[in-house]
Amino acid sequence: MPKTPQAPSEVSANNPCPFLRALVAQGLLPDHQASIAEVTKTIVGVARAGEGEPDLPASAIRAIALIANGLGPLQLARNGLGGLRLDELRGGPLDKKGAGSGILDQQAKIDQAQLDRLDEFAGDKLDAGGRTERGLDRDDLERMMNANFERAAGRRRLIDRKLMDGEWPILLQVMGKPGQAGRYLSVAEVSDLFVKRRLPERMLKRLGPER
Ligand code: HEM
Repeated sequence: MPKTPQAPSEVSANNPCPFLRALVAQGLLPDHQASIAEVTKTIVGVARAGEGEPDLPASAIRAIALIANGLGPLQLARNGLGGLRLDELRGGPLDKKGAGSGILDQQAKIDQAQLDRLDEFAGDKLDAGGRTERGLDRDDLERMMNANFERAAGRRRLIDRKLMDGEWPILLQVMGKPGQAGRYLSVAEVSDLFVKRRLPERMLKRLGPER
């Protein structure tokens, strides 16, 4: 089991991952450095608190954490031995440098226009209880990722489109709600993840008995 979520804390601007930022803010991971075992255990544990208990492959998370701060042999060894430096992810191999959603700018501040743009790709979804809300399913996310890649023409790497497949679809797996027409990400919950650095209440409840 991961640690119980704590009161929100500050998160380094050099951590550009909205999911990891929420885990740090929630006190589930340290802001600076965490061993690869701890990162993996925490992410897998949080994923299990999602609807449908999605199982993320620990081996894939370990591999990402190993390369996230640099691909050189010294950097790999440093991550393998010392762990992932969450506050040094910006500028690393996984940083698409603006080729993503652009919701977080280079200072990790929210770009409201980009956050609002999520709704352009969203549709009305029926949740399990029959309530309608704006949401992004797998096809919606695919259109958004393609559009993000398109608009970054001239300043993108080929690998950036592949990297996106390890971001939004995994978020869908972890934080998605079982809608009546299939799994979707609630736009309101994605907004809270980016802005408030907060996981959905239903997941927090499962993570800690006092919440
Ligand atoms: C060791 C694990 C992880 C590392 C090192 C990592 C690292 C990163 C980095 C460096 C970025 C910024 C990319 C950019 O600026 O273009 C990013 C973005 C992102 N990550 Fe993570 N991440 C990890 C795990 C996860 C997990 C488990 C999820 C989902 C549950 C996730 C969801 C996302 C999303 C949705 C984005 C945003 C892309 C955008 O704004 O377009 N990440 N991640």
